[in-house]
Amino acid sequence: MAVFDSTWSPSSWRDREALQQPEWPDGEAVDRVRDRLHALPPLVFAGEARQVRAALAEVAAGRAFLLQAGDCAESFHDFERLTDTGAAYSAVAIRERLQILLQMAAVLTYGAALPVLKIGRIAGQFVKPRSSDVERTPDGEIPVFRGHMIHDDLPTARARIPDPERMLEGYHLSASTLNLVRGFTKGGFADLTQVHSWNQDFVATSPQGKRYEVLASEIERALAFMAACGIDLAATPQLHQVDVWTSHEGLLLDYEEGLTRRDSLTGDWYDCSAHMLWIGDRTRAADGAHVEFFSGVHNPIGCKLGPGADPDEVVELCERLNAERAPGRLTMIVRLGADRVAEALPPLLRAVARAEQPVVWVCDPMHGNGFTTAGGRKTRHFDAIMAEIEGFFDACRAEGAWPGGVHLEYTGENVTECLGGSEELAEEQLDDRYETLCDPRLNGRQSLDLAFRVAELMRR
Ligand code: PEP
Ligand code: CO
Repeated sequence: MAVFDSTWSPSSWRDREALQQPEWPDGEAVDRVRDRLHALPPLVFAGEARQVRAALAEVAAGRAFLLQAGDCAESFHDFERLTDTGAAYSAVAIRERLQILLQMAAVLTYGAALPVLKIGRIAGQFVKPRSSDVERTPDGEIPVFRGHMIHDDLPTARARIPDPERMLEGYHLSASTLNLVRGFTKGGFADLTQVHSWNQDFVATSPQGKRYEVLASEIERALAFMAACGIDLAATPQLHQVDVWTSHEGLLLDYEEGLTRRDSLTGDWYDCSAHMLWIGDRTRAADGAHVEFFSGVHNPIGCKLGPGADPDEVVELCERLNAERAPGRLTMIVRLGADRVAEALPPLLRAVARAEQPVVWVCDPMHGNGFTTAGGRKTRHFDAIMAEIEGFFDACRAEGAWPGGVHLEYTGENVTECLGGSEELAEEQLDDRYETLCDPRLNGRQSLDLAFRVAELMRR
């Protein structure tokens, strides 16, 4: 089947099987919300989505590296509370998340000696696919939590009734988040000298400080060298303004359809809810509703590949989503697990290479390495996360593919959700500050540990 065939429309996904959608109690209320979404301004512009596609084409060519990272599930509650000092919690949390992202990116840029494309899981990551439809509580089974754009997380049957008005709230919160991201990244917060000094603070206080110091002091010397050459670090736009683009899983198709617009310049359709969208591992059936929907919009698209992905199926997905073989259009985000990546990734790389598909290969080392502790906490170990990234690099290098990037779940805050890292977070500590709505995230310091390790890997 041709990809951009004439039968495609923003609603043609409705003729296909749509997995992981809420059971809205009132269909007409959903239609009304979608009409209202249609009448609201786009969150991102088609021209920006094209810029991200072009940047991803550079990654596909091995001339750049992708850092895609953010929350597992953003929370409406972040916008309803204050910090201890009376500041808006949302603003502080977004700033901290951005700060860590910029710090990671600076280290990776130096390690790779290449541009690092920064894409947040941010400003719209409000919907979650789930493995089970129900959740057990002391009062019995209730519908599982699917994200704040659908219902509340409170563990009661009543809280879990899907409410389409939440799509509008999700839109407005995404707009506020994006506004702050644009402000921070263009308004001096991203100044490289500043970002580097944050990294030096991290190195100075890290138990692995000695190890990281080598790289940090090289960056220091590189900055001093530029200054000595007469480059005014504070006045050079590339050194104090950056682009941080947005992405989320394009799971809730009523919402995505509501934000899909025809670009007046090119006449092409774009999903203007985010710059990049990805299709989850559970909803990537080639003949399913999600692949149908995303085959027709011109944003850069990601697709998660779990251990169940088979080479022929992956090639078929490439055909469905990128029949034109345009570099930058399609990113495959593999999440196979540390123990499976060496065996399972090469056949996928080979099949896609044989099909001459210009795919960006990215490693999500989070979703294949989860386990539950005896105490009942969902967690991931830093060592397994690093081991999957190393396995990904090895497999790509052996097959002549470019290891194009990493896709992470992290938060800027000092949460205790993932084990290990330089500070060797232990199982007994998980209860200290376990706050995630869904999957366990790297905390700020674990994220920086990871960036330094990946930078080391890239220089090898
Ligand atoms: C996710 O990225 O949060 C997620 C659910 O991933 P996957 O589709 O790979 O399971
Ligand atoms: Co997740």
